Amino acid sequence: MSATTIFVVGIIGAGILTVLGIFAIAIRRGPSAGPITAEELADGATNLEQPAPVVVETETSDGSEEASAAVATITESSSEPPPDPLIEKQPLSTVEYGVTRRKFLNRALYIVFGLFLAQFALGALSYVWPKLKGGFGAPINAGNLDELKAALSDGGTITPVFLPAAQAWVVPFETSNLAGSSYEGVPFVVAGGESDGVGVMALWQRCVHLGCRVPECIPSQGFECPCHGSRYNIHGEYNSGPAPRNMDRFSLSVNGAGELIIETGTVVQTPRSKTFTAEYPQGPFCV
Ligand code: FES
Repeated sequence: MSATTIFVVGIIGAGILTVLGIFAIAIRRGPSAGPITAEELADGATNLEQPAPVVVETETSDGSEEASAAVATITESSSEPPPDPLIEKQPLSTVEYGVTRRKFLNRALYIVFGLFLAQFALGALSYVWPKLKGGFGAPINAGNLDELKAALSDGGTITPVFLPAAQAWVVPFETSNLAGSSYEGVPFVVAGGESDGVGVMALWQRCVHLGCRVPECIPSQGFECPCHGSRYNIHGEYNSGPAPRNMDRFSLSVNGAGELIIETGTVVQTPRSKTFTAEYPQGPFCV
């Protein structure tokens, strides 16, 4: 699973937990939160239904017992209302009550927000994870520089080498072309070339228009985006199309073992070149 996917899942999870948290708050603020108090018991007793009719037995003058029904209604004005067990019921102590609804909801609230913070932390961690484990975004070892340079040309034709781990095209660049170019004074975009005058550049494969992968075009000696037709020369300099600038490139260095290190966490942007360091096109277009 990519870091972006983990990040998106984390954000969605955090959103769900936030909704649950709001729901828990809404329940907690409801009128029925907390244990029943003595006042609530007394109020409830006055709202009870009227008691059932009472049948009274009377004795007649001839001594026989006759049952007659008399309906007696106990009203509020009655001087001696029958005892109501609800009124005599005392509220439970905290120990007897155990975990009240209020306590339960408070704890649920803390747990929900704890989970929310954990989701947020995981999302942030997933965002920086590639740098921690050495993937794209971290320095990438591209191997021996001399071997790499040997693979960059075929009988006078430049053959860019694609490095998937760095998402980069490596192309040759003659250091004599630096003066007056868009890269003059821009640090670390060219590496090597101290001995033979031929260094390398690492171009990010991502089109600077809308991010499509830009393939190389050997016949024209450039890069041509299949999405909207932006074209760049072999050094990634803008030629035509909707792209707003040259292809982006990464900072480079050569370590003590002669290996090229591509700093994929450091992207260098340059504006459309006014002077070009490579001829383009040199043949038919690919797009
Ligand atoms: S994404 Fe490359 S030209 Fe639009």
